Amino acid sequence: MKKIFLLLIIIISITACRNDDLKNCTDDITLFALADFPIGVAVGYNDLENNITYRNIVETQFNRITPGNAFKPNALQPFEGAFNFEVADSLVAFANANGKRIHGHTLVWHNQLPNWMNEFSGDRNAWIAMMETHIKTVATHFKGKVDGWDVVNEAFEDNGDFRGNIWFNNIGEEYLALAFQFAHEADSTALLFYNDYNIAAKNRKCEAILNHFKKLKSQGVPVHGIGLQLHVYTSTPSDSDIEKATENITEAGFLIHYSEIDISMNLLGGDMNLTDRKLRKQGEKMQAITEAFLAVPKAQQYGMTIWGISDNDSWIPSFFDREDYPLLYDENYKPKPMYCGFVEGLL
Ligand code: XIL
Repeated sequence: MKKIFLLLIIIISITACRNDDLKNCTDDITLFALADFPIGVAVGYNDLENNITYRNIVETQFNRITPGNAFKPNALQPFEGAFNFEVADSLVAFANANGKRIHGHTLVWHNQLPNWMNEFSGDRNAWIAMMETHIKTVATHFKGKVDGWDVVNEAFEDNGDFRGNIWFNNIGEEYLALAFQFAHEADSTALLFYNDYNIAAKNRKCEAILNHFKKLKSQGVPVHGIGLQLHVYTSTPSDSDIEKATENITEAGFLIHYSEIDISMNLLGGDMNLTDRKLRKQGEKMQAITEAFLAVPKAQQYGMTIWGISDNDSWIPSFFDREDYPLLYDENYKPKPMYCGFVEGLL
């Protein structure tokens, strides 16, 4: 009886989603119930605690969370040697209480570093030891609690060069292999990812990343997957570019995580006019992204993660100083055509 009821709700909702009247897009269904891989979302602890609508959507729609900021170095080790796991542990407790998985983001990056890390001075060995302490303390603390880690985030430039961040400048390109080794030594069960943006949009970046991690993998470095952030626009990269990048990474044997999905509309910046047509296009893009993920062999599907709940919570407008509407829910937490595009893609 329960099953028939659920089926009825799904059919009604799908019909609503297919309806041309965009206002009929409903979220009476549960996204994660439509997928046999985890459906994740980036969350902030304050929002979970203070915004019941936000929290309700996280609880009903998603079965994995990525802490949007709480696992970053500035949050976890604000002063050298003084780790602070309070907020991060609250998120873990929320996840456990609600049956959500966790994806850890991120151990090594060039942004959101505490000042002391940016200003650290020492020889190469001291830098390696400092990186090792951070990675091992954090990965040990969350051992058994996370599915995986973004071990290194955004280490390549769009042209395929290594990014000249503090790690590269002080340790050299070997910091990448070392970071994965340290993470694995601390938590041998976590799946370890390299994560970056513009992988589908920039050929040379994709090639450089693939070449580097294929090489590391062949040398026995424990790197299991590649995260394509997919901060994309409705118009670019093309669906076929997303498919191609995904295929190339899949063929090299890596797990695939679509790790930070949002779909911007405002390529030109500044103010924009939000129209039904733009919302529909965004929905179609979400469907295409989902279909590209579904083409990945089951065993390599780590999951799809959306970078926030509503257009209100998105990092895009403030970070890039432009008007935009990149997420599944509008500012009133009503599902957008992008939500329905996700549903259509998952079916
Ligand atoms: C963003 C967060 O969502 C914002 O709250 C924060 O102010 C800046 O960082 N790539 C990443 C994410 O890997 O960690 C970033 O998250 C978005 C870009």
